[in-house]
Amino acid sequence: MEHLFSLKDKVIIITGATGLLGSQHAEVVAEAGGIPILLDLNQKNCDELSNRIQTKYNVEAVGYKVDITNEEEILENVALIKKKFNSIHALINNAANNPKVEDSSEKAFSRLENFPLSVWNSDLAVGLTGSYLCAKHYGHLISTNANGGTILNISSDLGIIAPDQRLYRRNGLPDDLQPVKPVTYSVVKAGLIGLTRYLATYWAEKNVRCNAICPGGVENNQNEDFLKEVKSRIPLGRMAKKDEYKGLVLFLLSDSASYLNGSIISADGGRSVW
Ligand SMILES: NC(=O)c1ccc[n+]([C@@H]2O[C@H](COP(=O)([O-])OP(=O)(O)OC[C@H]3O[C@@H](n4cnc5c(N)ncnc54)[C@H](O)[C@@H]3O)[C@@H](O)[C@H]2O)c1
Repeated sequence: MEHLFSLKDKVIIITGATGLLGSQHAEVVAEAGGIPILLDLNQKNCDELSNRIQTKYNVEAVGYKVDITNEEEILENVALIKKKFNSIHALINNAANNPKVEDSSEKAFSRLENFPLSVWNSDLAVGLTGSYLCAKHYGHLISTNANGGTILNISSDLGIIAPDQRLYRRNGLPDDLQPVKPVTYSVVKAGLIGLTRYLATYWAEKNVRCNAICPGGVENNQNEDFLKEVKSRIPLGRMAKKDEYKGLVLFLLSDSASYLNGSIISADGGRSVW
């Protein structure tokens, strides 16, 4: 049974690897015997995570400071990885500018009427352009394998439903200062679904599969009012725990999912069916 979900010796690129969910993806790759390649903006954080994973799971893990909006940095990293590992088997497009409810109090700028073009550009640069650049270079490398490999895009429940802006309201603020989930989040997450379908056919003849998951929100120190409201909109009555996507990520990376291609999989406690 275990072999169904084995990632033994598979080299797997994870972008945004030191964040809340990226580190969970890294853990499950290592737990299944794979070699996680951790990409993020801060080398120290990458090193800390790779050390922790190596010690805990006794597998190789390596972290690189790579800004995925910078094609030169990606190309340099691809050359390094090729030299060190020869080939890679999978890419998880996980990095995004991820606005957190916890720090949304001063986010009047999040409203569409005030939303700065510079923030739009930088959110799209990470979430969409970065994913395209990683697919272009790491995905290409995967497509040169004799047996192909897989790409997993991390979308969101907000890739398929609109944000319920009532969730983000703060008492005592006038309407035009109420924080909202920024427009870029919806656009990036829906865009990743388009990228998933595109990539699912693009290298299909080379056996490169591409799927997306649409996770619901993870409970992570949000304020009580928000938690109460959001839970009432989720059939399972709670937000996700940060380790609750590990099984799905492992499944999609493993050979068990060898016939899944172009699938957009919700994992949101039922939020998007209500
Ligand atoms: N946390 C949630 O509730 C939730 C829910 C649904 C979907 N998601 C999605 O899951 C993914 C991970 O979310 P998270 O909660 O771990 O976010 P996070 O903010 O904790 O992690 C994101 C990571 O991406 C990195 N990053 C940002 N710009 C980068 C760049 N240019 N190059 C390389 N790395 C960069 C950040 O440094 C950070 O470590 C995101 O795509 C997010 O939208 C998260």
